[in-house]
Amino acid sequence: MREKRLSRRGFVKQATLGAAALGVSGMTWTGEKTARVFPGKMEPTEVVRLLNQDITGEIDAILTYMRNAFIIPQCEARCEMEEIGKDEMRHVEWLSGLVTDFGGIPTMEHHELSFGGDSPRDFLKRAIALEKGAIAQYKDHSEQIDHREVVEYLEVILWEEEKHLKEFEELLEDMME
Ligand SMILES: [Fe+2]
Ligand SMILES: [Fe+2]
Repeated sequence: MREKRLSRRGFVKQATLGAAALGVSGMTWTGEKTARVFPGKMEPTEVVRLLNQDITGEIDAILTYMRNAFIIPQCEARCEMEEIGKDEMRHVEWLSGLVTDFGGIPTMEHHELSFGGDSPRDFLKRAIALEKGAIAQYKDHSEQIDHREVVEYLEVILWEEEKHLKEFEELLEDMME
């Protein structure tokens, strides 16, 4: 259990370093409305549409993880799910900044929520499904969008979603023992 908590801290540190290596360390949305120039050919409205789909997926995950985390009795799984929910909030912050850069308004829509069942194992299985869905969608959107800077953001998020998936799979494995 202790190893996992240490690895979680290591992960956050790695994510920060990974973002910095990609030159997107200044990703915190400041609310400034300065115009930015993006070199890609995709229509801004189409970029906004795809990014808002990503925000919707993040909101699905945030609401699901936060609700389920409150009722998981096992300390480690509860804390991990809550921390990952906070990562997803940071993703919404980055994506919302990009949406407004492209002249759009960040969506607050989410799909009908599915919490996955009644047990902590069910919750982890649902989290794994959400992460797999997010990974597939970010890969697809990274291929579709031709604005390099946007793709760099999506690649950092994708990297974090892959870490989330691994963490949830490990937690589920531990719970099956
Ligand atoms: Fe996310
Ligand atoms: Fe995630």
